[in-house]
Amino acid sequence: MAIRLGDTAPDFTQDSTEGPVSFHDWIGSGWCVLFSHPADFTPVCTTELGRVASLKSEFDKRGVKCLALSVDPLEDHNKWSRDIEETQGTALNFPILADADRKVSDLYDMIHPNADNTLTVRSVFIIDSNKKVRLILTYPASTGRNFDEILRVIDSLQLTDSHKLATPADWKEGDDCIIVPAVSNEEAAELFGEFTEVKPYLRTVPQPAG
Ligand code: BEZ
Repeated sequence: MAIRLGDTAPDFTQDSTEGPVSFHDWIGSGWCVLFSHPADFTPVCTTELGRVASLKSEFDKRGVKCLALSVDPLEDHNKWSRDIEETQGTALNFPILADADRKVSDLYDMIHPNADNTLTVRSVFIIDSNKKVRLILTYPASTGRNFDEILRVIDSLQLTDSHKLATPADWKEGDDCIIVPAVSNEEAAELFGEFTEVKPYLRTVPQPAG
């Protein structure tokens, strides 16, 4: 059955470049980005995995672990890892699942047969500390992902989990936020102090600290 936002991320055990991963135990009490790429030794994927490795401190700051996947075997992942380090200037610092038996790809519907019969598409799942799926993205093989966007969504999710706020189009950390419609003006004043009422349904407030 399709995985939807709010579902518990399906658990699995699979081999990886850092040993067997029992997914829920491996995530622990933090957040996770699980993402697939079509194949090892391919150019776009090489840049993507290098980029994720270079963003480790940004993911760490947000309490997020990254976990990559393709249907290639472990020995290919290990050989390709050396190419990534050489060409992207950063050694991998997160595991790549070796999903040759497609256990995880099938569980997460990462193979879209009308795009490619055997290779995974570029899927992204953001999973929170309750193991709930909070974002699902699917990109084609020809388009490398923007991992700044993944970090931006994590910032929005973590902010709006702890405040009665939402974030507008193109929001980024530090920009004004939107007060959710369920909050009355009286409650908004109590929670946030001053706010701007552009329309009764469109009220903005500076991003709260913390
Ligand atoms: C790539 O990562 O460059 C790629 C992989 C599969 C198909 C097309 C491009």
